[in-house]
Amino acid sequence: MTRVFSGIKPTGPVQLGNLLGALRYWVTDQAEADTIFCVVDLHALTVPQDPAELRARTLELAQLLLAIGIDPAQSTLFIQSHVPEHTELSWILECTAAFGELRRMTQFKDKSDNADFVSAGLFTYPALMAADILLYDTDRVPVGDDQRQHLELSRDLAIRFNHRYGDTFVVPEASIPKIGARVMDLQEPTRKMSKSEDSPQGTILVLDDLDAVAKKIKRAVTDTETDVRFDPATKPGVSNLLSILGACTGDDPHAIAERFDRYGDLKSACAEAVVETLRPIQQRFAELSADPAGTAAILATGAEKARSLARPVLERARANLGLLPPA
Ligand code: TRP
Repeated sequence: MTRVFSGIKPTGPVQLGNLLGALRYWVTDQAEADTIFCVVDLHALTVPQDPAELRARTLELAQLLLAIGIDPAQSTLFIQSHVPEHTELSWILECTAAFGELRRMTQFKDKSDNADFVSAGLFTYPALMAADILLYDTDRVPVGDDQRQHLELSRDLAIRFNHRYGDTFVVPEASIPKIGARVMDLQEPTRKMSKSEDSPQGTILVLDDLDAVAKKIKRAVTDTETDVRFDPATKPGVSNLLSILGACTGDDPHAIAERFDRYGDLKSACAEAVVETLRPIQQRFAELSADPAGTAAILATGAEKARSLARPVLERARANLGLLPPA
């Protein structure tokens, strides 16, 4: 069976773009693949975090993943820092990566330009990400387009290590959703929906109050003209609403466009579809929040499963590298 691995950082509230652009594919992958999902709390440490907030966000994100339909009976769900093999392999891969190749990572450049504190971890971040992936003999990694370069590096590191030390790692493939499947900001539909701090009215959080969600969609920026057409280049606002509606109902945005003559009707339908998508998620989330011990037990089982998969891969790497085995 195909092994799928992906990770998500506990650094901010999950928004609709994360859900429709990425996380819903995690849920559907469960039926077809051997899926492993990880809340990558160690990656969050590359920038300073408030400890209480990090702890709360990590648990909350795990609960949210369960609430959207990650099923612990079908998937391995765990917290990165619960499986110390990640940090151990990360060091090995830091020594496999070249300084120059890490320096070329555009995300590092973006995040370090103008930052007053740049941790060494921010620089070596992609080696830890490669460790996450390579530890599980991963075949396929669903990630956003912004992670394409990191994925390419993971492949290069696997290939280089295998070449130097003999066959050790499976070389993973990226799976990146098509453009158009991207959810854009409701107020500025030419940019990706991202953090709510930057655009509170343009961003929908998965745990937002549902009345507020409907209002934000009804106030979304549309385009001049009045016809409903799916054409992201010339009609970004309307096309975004069509993509969101399509993602919620499983229909093609072009086909949906034919059902509407007026922006107002499209907005109402989109608002309703989003609200009905989020409602059951919020209900399950509330139940899970009321039982943190239940989540902790699920995560403990997940970490144990993950470790049992990671350990032999790490052993293979250690042996091939020539690290002297302990007696
Ligand atoms: N770097 C990814 C992001 O910012 C998160 C991540 C960490 C990840 N490890 C991973 C994604 C392994 C896929 C596989 O979105």
